[in-house]
Amino acid sequence: MHDYLIEMLECPVCHSELSWTVTRSLGSRIEEADVRCTTCGAAYPVREGIALFLTPDLPRNDLWEHVDSGLTTYLREHPEVERQLMDVPLADMAPADQFFRALVLEERGMYGQAKTAEQVANAGLYTREYLACSESQFNYVIERLSSSDGPIVDLASGRGALAERLASRLDRSLVVTDFSPRVLRRNRRWLEFLGLYDKVSLLAFDARRTPFKDRAVGTLTTYLGLSNIEEPADLLLELRRIVEGGFLAISHFFPEEDEANAAAIREAGLSPLLFRRSALDHFAAAGWLMELANMCVGESIPTPRSVLLDGAGVDALPVVETVLQWCVLVAS
Ligand SMILES: C[S@@+](CC[C@H](N)C(=O)[O-])C[C@H]1O[C@@H](n2cnc3c(N)ncnc32)[C@H](O)[C@@H]1O
Repeated sequence: MHDYLIEMLECPVCHSELSWTVTRSLGSRIEEADVRCTTCGAAYPVREGIALFLTPDLPRNDLWEHVDSGLTTYLREHPEVERQLMDVPLADMAPADQFFRALVLEERGMYGQAKTAEQVANAGLYTREYLACSESQFNYVIERLSSSDGPIVDLASGRGALAERLASRLDRSLVVTDFSPRVLRRNRRWLEFLGLYDKVSLLAFDARRTPFKDRAVGTLTTYLGLSNIEEPADLLLELRRIVEGGFLAISHFFPEEDEANAAAIREAGLSPLLFRRSALDHFAAAGWLMELANMCVGESIPTPRSVLLDGAGVDALPVVETVLQWCVLVAS
């Protein structure tokens, strides 16, 4: 993380000042530090340049931890599957297996080949309409942010589809965040490979309990981050506390009458922000003003399952074919 962030941060548990002992830095970048709350004593380390502001009190389901370690263990125990996953020509594989090959290639530091495998996989995992709607939202966000300045905080960045575009197309500092340290470590290596790491800080925190001071964040973004946050009860209040400027949330909504997907969404605890009416009600109840910009609709299908890895899936939703309504939820 870069040292400009120090004055934007506070204890995510009790909101008090932090005391910083930096033990290794490179220019303005803090590589290793021990951070402690001056009131409640909670400790937050910075390791490998990644600031870890995770609090112990919230239940978390870190899927990157499960997927990465599960995949590595499975392949170690099944060398014949590993050979098929890595040696068969890419074009002959199922899209989900192309995606899992990309994950393994990344783990081995073969980023160029990983990028190709992921691009090929995406063309088979998602419909053309899904990819077009998604790309249109990226372009809209970039265009809107190209005329302002200051750091951008990207929420629930995951593997960084939006973060990578923001870093490559805008001349602004970027804070890439997720509650999974594992995916942030992957992002560091990936952004270094792309030559984009210089302007990026990496922060691990739970979006429901962030380490930012009140109104410290000028611009907040997310690409489908809100719809991945389980039990988002106070999430929008917490985000309103920290945002001074605007929040651009690339979102997609399921049709109200889509019962099969609604049941899966309810079961995953993701209902409030995946249906348009309910999302707007939740934003309004948390005191946000908002508009839905750049609307488009596109067919979406369940991502086809792996052939080699016991039917493993890529995305949990949709569970049946549907038509998603995409937009950028612009909130202030
Ligand atoms: C799949 S990504 C969404 C796509 C991503 N924003 C992008 O640009 O590629 C969703 C991410 O949300 C993260 N996540 C889920 N719950 C979270 C929470 N409560 N706080 C922070 N991150 C969370 C997951 O670890 C996951 O990496």
